[in-house]
Amino acid sequence: MVSHISAVLALLAVQIGAVAASSVTGTRPITAATELPAPLYPGPRQEVISGPHPSYSWPPAEATSSPICKSVQYPFPSGTNSNTTRADAVRDLYRRSWDQYAEYCFGHDQILTLTNTCADDIFGWGATIVDGIDTAIVMNLTDIVTRQLAFIAEIDFSTANSLVDGFDAVIRYLGGLLSSYDLLTSGYVPEGTYNADHVNALLSQAKTLGDNLKVQFDTPSGLPAAYINFTTNTAVNGQFTDPLNNVTYNATNTAVAGTLVLEFYRLSDLTGDDSFRELADRVQGNLIFPNPAPVWPGLIGSELDINTGNFLTYDFGWHAGIDSCFEYLIKTYYYQPSSAAASFMKDFWVLAANSSIEHIALHPYDHPELTYLSEGDVSGNLAWQMDDYACFAGGNLLLGGSFLDMPDIYNLGLAVADSCHAFYNTTKTDLGPLAWGWYNGSNEAYDPTWDSNTSYREEAKEFGYFITPGNAQYDSFPESIESIFYAYRITGDSRWQDYNWEIFQALERESTATIPCAPISDVNVPKSFISELPSYYFAEVLKYLFLSFADPNVVNLDDWVFNTECHPMLRNAADCGN
Ligand SMILES: *[C@@H]1O[C@H](CO)[C@@H](O)[C@H](O)[C@H]1NC(C)=O
Ligand SMILES: *[C@@H]1O[C@H](CO)[C@@H](O)[C@H](O)[C@H]1NC(C)=O
Ligand SMILES: *[C@@H]1O[C@H](CO)[C@@H](O)[C@H](O)[C@H]1NC(C)=O
Ligand SMILES: *[C@@H]1O[C@H](CO)[C@@H](O)[C@H](O)[C@H]1NC(C)=O
Ligand SMILES: *[C@@H]1O[C@H](CO)[C@@H](O)[C@H](O)[C@H]1NC(C)=O
Ligand SMILES: *[C@@H]1O[C@H](CO)[C@@H](O)[C@H](O)[C@H]1NC(C)=O
Ligand SMILES: *[C@@H]1O[C@H](CO)[C@@H](O)[C@H](O)[C@H]1NC(C)=O
Ligand SMILES: *[C@@H]1O[C@H](CO)[C@@H](O)[C@H](O)[C@H]1NC(C)=O
Ligand SMILES: *[C@@H]1O[C@H](CO)[C@@H](O)[C@H](O)[C@H]1NC(C)=O
Repeated sequence: MVSHISAVLALLAVQIGAVAASSVTGTRPITAATELPAPLYPGPRQEVISGPHPSYSWPPAEATSSPICKSVQYPFPSGTNSNTTRADAVRDLYRRSWDQYAEYCFGHDQILTLTNTCADDIFGWGATIVDGIDTAIVMNLTDIVTRQLAFIAEIDFSTANSLVDGFDAVIRYLGGLLSSYDLLTSGYVPEGTYNADHVNALLSQAKTLGDNLKVQFDTPSGLPAAYINFTTNTAVNGQFTDPLNNVTYNATNTAVAGTLVLEFYRLSDLTGDDSFRELADRVQGNLIFPNPAPVWPGLIGSELDINTGNFLTYDFGWHAGIDSCFEYLIKTYYYQPSSAAASFMKDFWVLAANSSIEHIALHPYDHPELTYLSEGDVSGNLAWQMDDYACFAGGNLLLGGSFLDMPDIYNLGLAVADSCHAFYNTTKTDLGPLAWGWYNGSNEAYDPTWDSNTSYREEAKEFGYFITPGNAQYDSFPESIESIFYAYRITGDSRWQDYNWEIFQALERESTATIPCAPISDVNVPKSFISELPSYYFAEVLKYLFLSFADPNVVNLDDWVFNTECHPMLRNAADCGN
């Protein structure tokens, strides 16, 4: 998940604007328990429980279950399954893309490939370098890594060129620093390959950045404010206006709040400074003891009141604004199965996954081979829409379903990964769009005007979806590639490698000799380039592709856990031999 915070809020507004019918029925694809599990915190819908926040005895002293030790990666016979031709082709694409960035924009945040001009839109710390370095490390591009390390050691993380949003600071910068430190200190490359001071600087820079982000938690609920002013070292709130009553709140969103626990746990473990873990636990208490209770157990909304820690909306789903909060609940447990707090996060993730099977995993009309995860509108009604960000769920459900040994969850992961692949191989570019809708079990769409749109009808008849207005772009999205990568590494089935190879070839086809893999504005209009090449293209797209073809022991899932920006960190699972 890579969505910038403002993009997240805008997306929510675009997609969930209309008022919906209240039916919550649909076609359920997966066999699941017929009885709903009891909510963790029972409460009547749309009523806030007054008094102290329900997370009274948090963080817990005791875990809810004994730690799980289980291998999730398929036991590939040694020396099999890599394809050097394919891996080399991805490495070559990294080098070509990097060379263009380095020639025109070295040290800037991102390159605009159409004009070879530069953008400093992610605080001016050189996002492409910090986000992209661990991919270069994994690919053994030593000359590039040497230059990146020297640059990173000199970044001044005490000043910024704009307000800093904690979300991007954590997933791109902190994640990139921690991951490259872990990779370079765990024997992946021979000792002495790189300047030792530069390697150590990765961790000291991570600590400096982490310390500078702490001010955002200085709020009544402990939830992070959306922004930080690095000049005054103060938190700056984002606002959310409830469309149902026009009341404006100081608010944060669920993805922003829930997408730091993994990095903060790792930072505490590497530095011995527990303050990061404590801040993250306090945040998580607001999320996994939701007040008021969500429509369905575990399926929390996307907006939170920064003062009370209460949820402000009843939307649900795995889409932008919520996505990586779910991702981190299970990954934090996977990171450290012995953590008592993480065992509660795992339980909440299971609630959400079970409710997803029960209520929002749906087939589009007349396409039983496809399974989508529907989002809800702010009132908690099904919207029969999904965005690309939610496509990470395939891999996340596979990881958790496999680790916890829960076949229904695992099977949903496979179904979602397959359906997200289907968004790619049905467009004219073989690349997937930002968001789409479908006709539900009674052949109707969320927005009644879509029911009579003949071109939507034709699209849906053939493919099972229609691309909703304004959502046709492929903005270097990594999520489907990510889920395909997990499906390959967990099932061992090489058909998934072929899917990622097809996507790689589509990216190459969409490039020109001078523009390596610019995003495109319409997936059905080849070469309709958008200029800005996002840093997560280097961090995520190229790394997930490369790891789909390299030796499967490179960044083995049993030893590493990826943050939401594809930065692998070593697990803290010593009890399990990791
Ligand atoms: C989730 O569903 C599985 C069956 O698929 C069931 O065994 C488990 O108890 C459920 N857990 C919760 C917390 O709902
Ligand atoms: C590796 O991939 C290339 C390109 O798709 C293919 O031609 C070749 O057969 C593959 N090699 C193996 C050993 O699978
Ligand atoms: C930070 O706060 C100072 C003092 O209020 C203000 O002058 C400056 O514009 C703020 N910085 C940003 C990036 O908003
Ligand atoms: C990178 O280099 C190391 C040491 O030289 C080697 O063990 C490893 O297999 C290489 N990795 C890749 C992906 O080429
Ligand atoms: C909202 O946050 C701003 C600071 O970002 C603060 O000045 C204001 O008082 C807050 N309002 C409420 C209602 O909490
Ligand atoms: C909220 O404000 C908008 C315009 O500012 C208005 O159209 C709408 O009716 C208001 N909604 C409610 C529930 O008051
Ligand atoms: C797309 O891929 C799926 C497998 O996920 C396959 O069943 C389907 O036939 C492919 N569709 C096209 C148009 O290639
Ligand atoms: C499909 O959507 C329509 C319009 O929102 C709704 O009235 C109907 O109940 C839904 N049907 C199913 C099976 O969910
Ligand atoms: C109907 O479909 C066309 C083509 O996909 C699209 O451009 C148009 O915006 C749609 N109309 C409405 C009202 O959504």
